[in-house]
Amino acid sequence: MSFSIDAVGVVHPNGQRALAGVSLAAHAGERVAVIGPSGAGKTTLLRVLGAALRPAEGQVRLLDAPPWQLDRAALKRLRARIGTVHQAPPIPPRLRVVTAVLSGRLGQWSAARAIASLLRPSDIAGAHEALSRLALEDRLFERCDRLSGGQLQRVGVARVLYQRPALLLADEPVSALDPTLADTTVRELVAQSEATGATLVASLHAVDLALRWFPRVIGMRDGRVMFDRPAAEIDSAMLDTLYASEGGLPAAHAAAQPSAVSALHEAPFLPPDCP
Ligand SMILES: Nc1ncnc2c1ncn2[C@@H]1O[C@H](COP(=O)(O)OP(=O)(O)OP(=O)(O)O)[C@@H](O)[C@H]1O
Ligand SMILES: [Mg+2]
Repeated sequence: MSFSIDAVGVVHPNGQRALAGVSLAAHAGERVAVIGPSGAGKTTLLRVLGAALRPAEGQVRLLDAPPWQLDRAALKRLRARIGTVHQAPPIPPRLRVVTAVLSGRLGQWSAARAIASLLRPSDIAGAHEALSRLALEDRLFERCDRLSGGQLQRVGVARVLYQRPALLLADEPVSALDPTLADTTVRELVAQSEATGATLVASLHAVDLALRWFPRVIGMRDGRVMFDRPAAEIDSAMLDTLYASEGGLPAAHAAAQPSAVSALHEAPFLPPDCP
């Protein structure tokens, strides 16, 4: 098993219930899309799968280890094998693209090598290779704060490709991209999963991408799994129910709102064990 969670419940510190009794498992190399309206709990689920959030209720196993029973060093090693593309990465000022990509492996390197790499990028060829898969190789030495939102989002994807994690989590990885780039970027994530055997779990607002690229699709709403099916079995009635509006807000609008709250809590360009 790549991961299994059982009866997981998460209540955020403000009392907001984000997951309610969620049980899921995936085997190594599986590709799973998570869809559902804004606030459904997709980001919260991915944070549980990334060992970034410890649920108050339920059992979690990631890459055959119980993350919350490990000591600090073992938890750090586990997190280095999990890679996340974050929904809205906050970027340290003046960070170069090359450094952002190389930081994907910080968790796997010794402290000395990690610090040396931040001062002087060591594996420029590796960063170049990852960026070229996303048509960004000409931005290698650009400052991240001079990139467009879509370019920055692809840097986040290049970073996780460079990391080569065993469990690859992508939270709205293409929300800032035009349809063509969105498609090629998801294709690269899928290609990575096929080439390395990594399990891929991606949350997506673009249902067409979920159905095209992912053999298994999970629909979430109100912190619960509404369906968990092969993509070929998902019909428009299921999607209508999943996205049906409750408060009179059109579903398309509700689905288009990124979750700024949760994004603020992520620090993707730091080593995985930094707060
Ligand atoms: N850090 C947090 N503190 C408090 N509440 C939170 C936090 N993160 C998420 N929530 C709440 O938990 C619920 C699930 O949020 P989550 O971010 O997991 O949804 P989502 O499906 O990722 O939504 P979106 O599609 O907008 O990104 C929402 O009601 C949200 O307001
Ligand atoms: Mg989210």
